[in-house]
Amino acid sequence: MTKLWHVNAEQPQPESLQEAAALLAAGKTVAFPTETVYGLGADARNTEAVRSIFEAKGRPSDNPLIVHIADRSQLEVLAAPPAEAVSRLLDAFWPGPLTMVLPVRPGVLSPLVTAGLSTVGLRMPDHPVALQLIAAAGCPVAAPSANRSGRPSPTLVSHVQEDLEGRIAGIVDGGPTGVGLESTVVEYVETVASGSASASGAIQGVLHILRPGGITAAQLRAALPDVPVLGAAEAESEAAEAPRAPGMKYAHYAPRGAMVLVQGDAPERVLARIQRELDQARSRGERTGVLTYGEHAAAYRADRVVACGRLSDLESVAQGLYAALREFDEAGIGFIAAEACPEDGLGAAIMNRLRKAAGGNILEA
Ligand code: TXA
Ligand code: MG
Repeated sequence: MTKLWHVNAEQPQPESLQEAAALLAAGKTVAFPTETVYGLGADARNTEAVRSIFEAKGRPSDNPLIVHIADRSQLEVLAAPPAEAVSRLLDAFWPGPLTMVLPVRPGVLSPLVTAGLSTVGLRMPDHPVALQLIAAAGCPVAAPSANRSGRPSPTLVSHVQEDLEGRIAGIVDGGPTGVGLESTVVEYVETVASGSASASGAIQGVLHILRPGGITAAQLRAALPDVPVLGAAEAESEAAEAPRAPGMKYAHYAPRGAMVLVQGDAPERVLARIQRELDQARSRGERTGVLTYGEHAAAYRADRVVACGRLSDLESVAQGLYAALREFDEAGIGFIAAEACPEDGLGAAIMNRLRKAAGGNILEA
């Protein structure tokens, strides 16, 4: 049986959090809300506890977990002291949807958390429930998204229940999450500048975006104007070969039906191509669905037309994306056509998730 606590997202009831924290401290798994998506937490130092996360999710063991902390002082316990550029990033974005990959301090975390890597992804979530729960548990909390591996991440407690009810010890219900997409995963890589042109001992660093997410490339560049930021596109093409964020290589976020993503420069051609795909699928006897935006919803004929936010407000698209993907499953849709969105700002993370949900099945209109 999975225990359930309903708490106020802004001012969570301390008694409920104490009970949930006691389960975490005892090596059990508890799902909780963050500002991005719901996470499935366990004590990151306890190998049996961490193993339960992998089992509950059905997650491949070579995909490392993000470790969540409630206080900057926990960083020094878990990782090497951060470079100055990293400190500036943390000042700018913590608490918040930024996961920093840092050299791990040996011997503190369960080796299952890092999946054998010499680095650990650390994040301080910007959510009162998450922060107070982690603080009350008194341990670093390993927490992947609280979905069965491969399914869309959970933005509502009902999504967590669908996937994990009966498989985990507890769920803290703090209502819908905010951003709706996972954190941006970054790694800062330093090299000592060679050649005499640079100042003595000058260090050059590059920031790699390993997974696009809630913090955009533009926000990262604004916080670190003197550091090159290698964008998500590079990370994604690299991911096909030797993924830096191991999770990028797996099928992800996928609804049960077949999905195709349609993109192109001319919106009218995209709309026409999608309608053609839908009509063909319908003539094959499929139930059809289209994933679109408020502006275009009226243009389509399908069994299920899901308007996921508005194109003029990509934050609303991010918030609704995973719930929209799950909606097609509930409606028993066999064929889904999704409309691409522009890749600026949050659009980079949205398109990254749509490409994965479509399993690389992309049509140019
Ligand atoms: O917003 C989020 O990040 C959510 C909430 C719950 O915090 N968590 C989340 O965790 O999305 P998960 O496990 O679903 O995704 C973690 C991603 C994976 O792509 C994984 O490969 C990458 O982060 N990752 C974790 N540790 C890493 C490391 N040491 N080096 C490179 N990538 C790492
Ligand atoms: Mg995940």
